Amino acid sequence: MTLATTVKNDVAFPAPIRPVVHFTAPANWINDPNGLIYLDGQYHLFYQHNPHSIDWGHMSWGHATSRDLIRWEHKPLAIPEDDVFLSFSGSIVLDEKNTSGLGSADCPPLIALYTGARQGDIPDQHQCLAYSLDRGVSWTKYQDNPVITAIRRGMRDPRVFWSQDANCWVMVVAYADDFEIAFLQSDNLLDWREVSRLGPMGYAFHEWECPDLVRLTDPASGVVRWVLLISVAEGAPNGGSGVQYILGTFDGGTFTPDGSSPRWIDLGPDFYASQTWGDIPDEDGRAIITAWMSDRRYAAHMPAGRWRGCHTLPRELFLIGSVAEGFSVGQRPVKELTVARTLVERQDDFHVTSNIALIKPGLGSPFADVTISVDAGKTDRLMYEINRSGDFVTTLKLDLEAGIIALDRRRSGPFNNSDFRQVISADGLSPVDLCNLRFILDGPNLEIFAQSGHFVLSALLFSETSEPNLTLYADDGTVRISSDSVHNI
Ligand code: FRU
Repeated sequence: MTLATTVKNDVAFPAPIRPVVHFTAPANWINDPNGLIYLDGQYHLFYQHNPHSIDWGHMSWGHATSRDLIRWEHKPLAIPEDDVFLSFSGSIVLDEKNTSGLGSADCPPLIALYTGARQGDIPDQHQCLAYSLDRGVSWTKYQDNPVITAIRRGMRDPRVFWSQDANCWVMVVAYADDFEIAFLQSDNLLDWREVSRLGPMGYAFHEWECPDLVRLTDPASGVVRWVLLISVAEGAPNGGSGVQYILGTFDGGTFTPDGSSPRWIDLGPDFYASQTWGDIPDEDGRAIITAWMSDRRYAAHMPAGRWRGCHTLPRELFLIGSVAEGFSVGQRPVKELTVARTLVERQDDFHVTSNIALIKPGLGSPFADVTISVDAGKTDRLMYEINRSGDFVTTLKLDLEAGIIALDRRRSGPFNNSDFRQVISADGLSPVDLCNLRFILDGPNLEIFAQSGHFVLSALLFSETSEPNLTLYADDGTVRISSDSVHNI
């Protein structure tokens, strides 16, 4: 982790509007989601947190819970730094059978495995354990930490889960500087043995962090694919940090890639250090992911008020494709958002000849969820303007013929950072997907989903609007909107 710890709040920037749905800490700095677990009807979200300032440092685990992934209740600090270690990223499991012996049959412990990053000049990182005997409210650090003493630099971000196939605990952990993912097994969460390693592969020039391994089933064929997700500190398609994924099989010890190259999970610049929720009940069966909504290059310099940093909307991951064609990973916002939102306006079948404001003034919320289906007729270019306010505006250009999406952030607010002020683009997209989009706007957060789930683009914008706005331009001719709906919260 090389984020500058000395950067102070850039007071020249006005504080961004706090998002309604995207998770933020009550105050101060956050980065990665940690320890995501579903327990007793609640989603637990822990997160990398500096409890003392809006800058990175004093890394500790913050905590919040939710029944619907939309409204969060803040809890006391869970795993603070100590004299020896900062509490870096990691994960939590429920040790139902008390394999660790740290609880009892009547009171199974929750176990957090996280990276202890040594304070001071020696930047070594080891895997530590903390446990909770009150379902996640309070935490005790294991007396014999670390449980894994790393013999190489940069071992971090353990993701632990129970493997039915191998009948033991599995840890997936990064060797950040060597671009390797190690797979370890344990019977008691305390003693670990390494079973296999993978990497380097795909993009392997900047630190690999926060690995995750998630099982997806194709409902049509019943075929299971495992998705290995790896966060890469720099080098995503638009230059900064991003998450690459690779599909394959996993037997509880070894991950075997399918053969296709790793792909990027999000087309935008602001999706990093993701993690999926563990222990979602089988009858629900979803794989739900969230991420730190930022880019490591500018995260520490971003406009901030009392808080700095947030997470993306929780999203469902699913397989798209078939055994014959091969699979990719699709994404959609969790269905709980559909329940929580309120319909503001719905229009069907109308024409746009010049431009149309899709969100009318008076929304009364910094949050808008806009679903739009366009029949472009003979037009092969569409343009949206997002959050125009004074001189600030973000544009989204869609070239339907070439299959290109381009989000221009060069005027997206007062944040004068060259890595932020860029045009973010992606190609190879289908015109149908580009014509059927869902925009989620929430304070400084924008997530654009293809309604099919084929792609999502996450980006921060700092245009200073208290309510979002979105205008569709039809400069090249008339376009027909087959349906459009706007919701707020
Ligand atoms: C990813 C990361 C992790 C590390 C944590 C420290 O953003 O660098 O590798 O555990 O942040 O805050």
